[in-house]
Amino acid sequence: MDIFSWIAEEFMPEIRPTTALIYDAMASQSGEALPIIYRPFDAGHPGHWQDRGSALDFALSTRCEGQRVLDFGPGDGWPSLIIAPYAGEVVGVDGSARRVSVCAANAARLGITNATFHHVAPGSRLPFDDNSFGAVVAASSVEQTPDPRATLTELCRVLRPGGKLRLSYESLKRYSGGEEREAWLWALDDGSTRLMLYDRATEEEIALQVALTFGLPRDEVGRVLGASGDAVAFSDVTQEALSRLLPAVVDAGACTTRHPSCGTWMRWLSEVGFGLVVPTHSGAEIAGRVFGTLSEDERPDTLERIDAYLRPIVAIAIELPAPVELDPMITAVK
Ligand SMILES: C[S@@+](CC[C@H](N)C(=O)[O-])C[C@H]1O[C@@H](n2cnc3c(N)ncnc32)[C@H](O)[C@@H]1O
Repeated sequence: MDIFSWIAEEFMPEIRPTTALIYDAMASQSGEALPIIYRPFDAGHPGHWQDRGSALDFALSTRCEGQRVLDFGPGDGWPSLIIAPYAGEVVGVDGSARRVSVCAANAARLGITNATFHHVAPGSRLPFDDNSFGAVVAASSVEQTPDPRATLTELCRVLRPGGKLRLSYESLKRYSGGEEREAWLWALDDGSTRLMLYDRATEEEIALQVALTFGLPRDEVGRVLGASGDAVAFSDVTQEALSRLLPAVVDAGACTTRHPSCGTWMRWLSEVGFGLVVPTHSGAEIAGRVFGTLSEDERPDTLERIDAYLRPIVAIAIELPAPVELDPMITAVK
């Protein structure tokens, strides 16, 4: 029997939103890796350049300067806390109460006073008036909601006419060719261990996520599954191994998420009321390339100089249409 069918029969996982399966259980959604929010900006680090390019992307593509900006699903406060200096005001809404308190704590620690964060139960209407935001950003979050198309409807409703939504997302194409099924282990705060299992149907653009929690430390669960650290070979997640862990199971949950490709997002965005919908190149991508073309001596070496250097380049990149097949970021104008 297929392992997912066996788990369904044996553990009867409760259907829950991703916030309950994943985001409520994380002290930091980014593993405290975000530049500026958690780590000093490092001008010699290509990832930090990409992050900067991405921040400029969200700020410039939405023309957020001086505006009231909605960040849907900010996680640890990204990009809200990074674009707050450009915006008039940033409002973050997250379906995970824990993420909201982490965002608020990060804002306070960074001395950011024009960003507020609010919890909105997954699947519910946003607690904002129609046309009440000048811009909306959503970074890898809409596909985590129970009904991404309905979420887009809400984002369109609260955006003022002429305002822009900038959307990044995880499409499943990157997993096709052997990584559709994946497993990883995760040590939870209370000493228990969660095994996350993914079964991605890349053509159908859906992913089944199953979370089994064991009342055992990660090393013990890992030993049974032959894991090294967080990585578990999916092929080692067998009925036999899970049967040995069965007495230690304290919780079982699952959810199915939709992961649209660019074409699907574009169709939905048009259907829910956006006028112009354009897939474009991204600031992160171009900033990474710029970093790679400059020698160490040529590279600007402070955050301010990097911003000044990247700003016009990112401004051009985000206006350039990108091929739909690459699943690029999307700008949608209401
Ligand atoms: C992959 S994380 C992205 C976080 C952040 N935007 C970033 O790029 O680092 C997805 C975020 O969406 C949030 N989320 C999931 N379902 C949601 C929902 N129904 N409503 C609002 N936020 C949701 C999660 O709690 C999480 O913060």
